[in-house]
Amino acid sequence: MIDIQDLSLTYAGPQGPVHALKNINLHIQAGEVFGIIGRSGAGKSSLVRCMNLLNRPVSGKMIVNGRDLLQLSDAQLRQARQEIGMVFQHFNLLSSRTVFDNAALPLELAGVSKAEIAQRITPLLELVGLAHLANRYPAQISGGQKQRVGIARALASNPRVLLSDEATSALDPETTRSILDLLRQVNRELGVTVVLITHQMQVIKQIADRVAVMEAGQVVELGAVLDVFTNPQQAITQSLIDEIVPQELPASVQQRVQALSLGLPAGQSGQLLRLSYAGDSAYQPVLSHLIRELGLDLSILHGQIDDIQGQTFGSLAVFASGPPAQITAAIAYLQRNGVQVRQQPQGGRHV
Ligand SMILES: Nc1ncnc2c1ncn2[C@@H]1O[C@H](COP(=O)(O)OP(=O)(O)OP(=O)(O)O)[C@@H](O)[C@H]1O
Ligand SMILES: [Mg+2]
Repeated sequence: MIDIQDLSLTYAGPQGPVHALKNINLHIQAGEVFGIIGRSGAGKSSLVRCMNLLNRPVSGKMIVNGRDLLQLSDAQLRQARQEIGMVFQHFNLLSSRTVFDNAALPLELAGVSKAEIAQRITPLLELVGLAHLANRYPAQISGGQKQRVGIARALASNPRVLLSDEATSALDPETTRSILDLLRQVNRELGVTVVLITHQMQVIKQIADRVAVMEAGQVVELGAVLDVFTNPQQAITQSLIDEIVPQELPASVQQRVQALSLGLPAGQSGQLLRLSYAGDSAYQPVLSHLIRELGLDLSILHGQIDDIQGQTFGSLAVFASGPPAQITAAIAYLQRNGVQVRQQPQGGRHV
């Protein structure tokens, strides 16, 4: 659907060139909701704006729907852009036009007849839940409703791809959820591929099938959302996930770890383990096994169970104490059983 090959983008900044995208390779599949996450300045907007050539890369290929946008004539590019809708953080509605006329704008610009416009826009406003507000002006509707207009406008030309650049960043959490639900619905019911940019893992968690993590103009991590959540490889990814599953334990829990470490009998060691796992079946028996078969003491300190699109995602902080060899064996056993384990040094007596 979208095939990005060796793509680089450089801006001419006032203090010299800014290498905003460095050799990006990415393949976005038809029908998926693909998330792109990163901190401010990572290059997310730069990348998504290459997907409709609002930004022109200096090198590489941007193949959308089988055509390399960089090879197209102006007329062909206009045609190709009809298949690529875009929604923006600040909605970009025209204040002097009604909801209906804002949504209809791309069709008007393309010279579509009034009758055809009505035929297309009326059901679209229905889909985004704004049929009853068609004659209002942007100043007379809420932020969430404005974004619904933005989505209707982006869908007006019947695109196969919808690009969303921080579409929910200006909205409160509940409105964010409802807009993301709408994007999911558009994806499922109309079969539109959605590319969604955000700096919030919460957004990725709610809607994306796969996610790419960007840092300093590069894609540094890529995978299915559940995999990335359970087994993040890069520090930046970990820190983005922290917003949902805090890695820093509450002070009261840390005090408890201290107390447990100090209270260890001679010959025993203790280790604070951070466990994360996906899917719910195997988990309980695994912990029981540690206690029963390996003779470890486990204190569960902190835990959180979350849901990523119907799949359980759990994280747990436990303090394991027992003979050092048994702790090592326990970690290996957990890993063999699909539990990701991170050891945190503050738990050991010897540390
Ligand atoms: N028009 C421009 N001219 C020069 N530099 C730019 C321009 N637009 C963006 N940049 C620079 O390119 C880099 C990537 O910016 P970009 O807007 O793509 O980041 P972003 O990930 O979308 O950030 P944010 O989350 O803040 O929107 C930044 O260093 C930015 O300062
Ligand atoms: Mg941006």
